[in-house]
Amino acid sequence: MTVRPMRREDISSIVQLEKICFSSPWSQDTLLSELTNDTARFFSAFYHENFAGYLGANNICGEVYIGNIAVFPEFRRLHIATALLENLFDSAQKEKANLITLEVRLSNLPAIYLYKKFGFFSMGERPNFYSSPTENALIMTKYLQTD
Ligand code: COA
Repeated sequence: MTVRPMRREDISSIVQLEKICFSSPWSQDTLLSELTNDTARFFSAFYHENFAGYLGANNICGEVYIGNIAVFPEFRRLHIATALLENLFDSAQKEKANLITLEVRLSNLPAIYLYKKFGFFSMGERPNFYSSPTENALIMTKYLQTD
């Protein structure tokens, strides 16, 4: 498995993955705009050379917000999301970020288990944050060690 920063050539696969995973998928234009966004920390993962998943985050003034993480169904439970998160943790530590935070659907237990495994804890809920279907978001945050 390899993980590297997202490139333009990955975007068609990411658009496909977004459509499979999310009711409000990110568009090609949104993803393209992140290629030139200084705050973007986007990573792509490959399993035996096949595009397998990606993580999209933004570092805003030392607070890293994970917008999305997704893995194609055929590559799940192979620790691909783990590798993507570890790359983000490395970059956030190097940049001396204070914390990493995200929202997740209350019903999305695989993702909640993933985040808990890596030290994120629940900070509360955002009522009706999601649509199609309407659902609360759980806010999860991990504080990073700062020197
Ligand atoms: N059930 C229970 N725990 C799960 C799980 C599942 N289906 N999937 C992941 N986990 C937890 C486990 O603790 C696992 O560790 P283990 O394998 O040692 O038990 C840990 O997460 C790491 O799993 P990993 O193999 O790295 O995750 P993954 O590559 O399969 O990707 C998601 C996990 C959530 C990204 C993937 O299921 C996915 O793409 N889901 C759809 C998109 C999505 O919901 N994204 C989150 C948006 S907030």
